[in-house]
Amino acid sequence: MKIAIGADHGGYTLKTTLVEHLRLLGHDVADMGTDSTEPVDYPDIARRVAERLVLGRAERGILLCGSGVGAGIAANKIAGIRAAVCHDAFSARQGVEDDDMNLLCLGARVIGAELAKDLADVFLKARFSGAERHVRRLNKVRALEHEQECAEA
Ligand code: RB5
Repeated sequence: MKIAIGADHGGYTLKTTLVEHLRLLGHDVADMGTDSTEPVDYPDIARRVAERLVLGRAERGILLCGSGVGAGIAANKIAGIRAAVCHDAFSARQGVEDDDMNLLCLGARVIGAELAKDLADVFLKARFSGAERHVRRLNKVRALEHEQECAEA
């Protein structure tokens, strides 16, 4: 699968672990930075990963920061992004199956490397169910985005 991954300085070290793990599994991983523990601003990294997703150059994204929260908040400002912090396997799987989550956010100061790898695997294996009720709800989410764009215009 084509994956875009990014992290701020808080998530940098865990990102390197995940990039290696995902490449060993055969995924096509685009590493969108950052490239060190030098402080950077998570919205800049979130933008890079989110834009790659909405342009169709990646099928799923993974974002890391200290808590996962800031990265998720920033990414969800971009139309077409459905991001969430998931630190349990149930949410990482059901977030895709029911909500078509396309961007997994992880807190590198919250969880360890083995859990992060498991969560990434669960997230990437999950598929949107396409169930009518979930499609209906997603369409309402898209309508919220559209209403926002119209209000801004
Ligand atoms: C950076 O110190 C930290 O605020 C960031 O990594 C993240 O936790 C934000 O949500």
